[in-house]
Amino acid sequence: MTKDYSQDFARVEGKVWLNCAHQGPLPNAAVDEAHEAIAWKTALHLLRDELFFDVPLRLRHALGKLIGTPPEDIILGNSASYGLHLLANGIRWKAGDEVLVVAGDFPADLFPWLGLEKRGINVRFVEPRQEVLQAEELESHLTKSTKLLCVTYVHSFNGHAVDVQKLGELCRAKGVTFVINCSQALGARAFDVSRIAVDAITNVGFKWLCGPYGTGFCWIRPELRESLDYNQAYWLAMLTPEDLAKELPRVTLRSDLGARRYDVFGTANFFNFKPWAAAVEYLLEQGIDRIETHNNSLVSRLIGGLDPKRYDLLSPREGAARSTLVFVSHKDSKRNSEIYESLRKSGVYIASRAGKLRFSPHLYNTHDDIDHALSILQAI
Ligand SMILES: Cc1ncc(COP(=O)(O)O)c(C=O)c1O
Repeated sequence: MTKDYSQDFARVEGKVWLNCAHQGPLPNAAVDEAHEAIAWKTALHLLRDELFFDVPLRLRHALGKLIGTPPEDIILGNSASYGLHLLANGIRWKAGDEVLVVAGDFPADLFPWLGLEKRGINVRFVEPRQEVLQAEELESHLTKSTKLLCVTYVHSFNGHAVDVQKLGELCRAKGVTFVINCSQALGARAFDVSRIAVDAITNVGFKWLCGPYGTGFCWIRPELRESLDYNQAYWLAMLTPEDLAKELPRVTLRSDLGARRYDVFGTANFFNFKPWAAAVEYLLEQGIDRIETHNNSLVSRLIGGLDPKRYDLLSPREGAARSTLVFVSHKDSKRNSEIYESLRKSGVYIASRAGKLRFSPHLYNTHDDIDHALSILQAI
């Protein structure tokens, strides 16, 4: 067993949270920062002007480190949907262009593109042959008009991870913009945008990155980002502290802001971004590789402990497609909702998705948590 990370999180006696794919808990280090943010807003002399610049800057640094990119290339958002909307509304489409999405994918990946149809852009739903899209089948779906492919890295409803490397290479070879929603992956597995042929990623902050709800970010390859045609000019981004000190601030659009130009408004949102920065810094300190190893051992223990006479594992047992989202069904799938309820009544919180049981442990979980859940499954 690896380090006991559970001591870095609040432990609630008798409660086991195996639902990080829904929400991840704040680490203690982030809780302290949230308290400090409340103190700033309670005793306002503490809320120094510099904090409006420092809060986003710190978060940008942590997120840049997480995905292997300079902090200046991080766009701060409030959700995964934020980045997808930037792309959908900002790419210079031509009538007849085609966007490929995957049928059955998480809805946040589908809706942002649909509004483009009224501009003559064709949004095509690809039916994957297996649970998630394989690079081998993608080629047959690409046409001369295909401009963009949007996929989820780890599928929220079946736990399979796509091969982002292979999909990216094919997209790159065919001149297709490749967009990945990493919301169910970042924080649980290492990911470096410089090693994958990807053009944009988007991510929530409140799952595997253990931040508050209403957080997210995106990264858009600089050439693509600079080619967007999207009208956003937030006054706090456009003006420097020196500008603000003047009697009449300069009101001319700046074109040198880079990614920062597209940050969500209220960028210094200290209630959310201060604890989230601390949470990401905490994960980085632990080492994402080590967290991945720890999580793998939790997943292996869960999978290995399932009674095969009574339960079917529906997500991958091993290999690169396996993730931290483990889908299980009782042999009599009609019993799944009753099992979900029994687990909940016993203080074990998982998710019920599409009639299946979804377990999603993260670093704060221990082998004891897994054994406790297994003992309940066994007793049912
Ligand atoms: C893959 C995926 N993307 C996005 C989200 C959330 O999207 P948003 O942050 O836009 O609400 C979820 C879950 O809530 C998810 O599972």
